[in-house]
Amino acid sequence: MNAEETRSVGARLAAALIEADEPGPLVIGLSGDLGAGKTTLVGGLLAALGHEGAVRSPTYTLIEPYHLAGRDVNHCDLYRLRHSSELDDLGLRDLLTPRSLLLVEWPERAEGRLGVPDLSFELGYLDDGRCVDISAASEAGRRVLAAMAQT
Ligand SMILES: Nc1ncnc2c1ncn2[C@@H]1O[C@H](COP(=O)(O)OP(=O)(O)OP(=O)(O)O)[C@@H](O)[C@H]1O
Ligand SMILES: [Mg+2]
Repeated sequence: MNAEETRSVGARLAAALIEADEPGPLVIGLSGDLGAGKTTLVGGLLAALGHEGAVRSPTYTLIEPYHLAGRDVNHCDLYRLRHSSELDDLGLRDLLTPRSLLLVEWPERAEGRLGVPDLSFELGYLDDGRCVDISAASEAGRRVLAAMAQT
């Protein structure tokens, strides 16, 4: 995949999220080495949900909040988390309101404190571009993945 194709995976995820219209909060994990394209994918997702302009990488702020398509959408990047106990101070759990989305780069830094994400995107380097492996770990995640397969 090139960068535009990575963005379009995010756009397809957005379409699937709207189509599946899950009532509960969804946690979406984005894993992969530095520069693998996690924020690029989130950029495609947020744009497809109606965000205009650039997406700020939450590397320093840790959380960037949005309200898009009637949903609370929080984009976080846990790379700079020093210890998973800092998550309690961040109040990530309080962000899990009905129909909300929590997009988490570097979810492994949470050391299980966020639970297993409903959906996981694992980005990697392949030849000159990138590849992505998508998996679901909950019923809601599987429904979104099924909707994504239809797009
Ligand atoms: N196929 C591709 N998919 C995504 N990004 C690509 C691709 N090819 C090149 N790039 C470039 O690689 C960079 C990826 O950066 P991005 O911020 O999305 O990565 P990241 O996984 O979020 O990194 P970090 O772990 O630092 O947050 C961007 O500059 C992007 O333009
Ligand atoms: Mg990033």
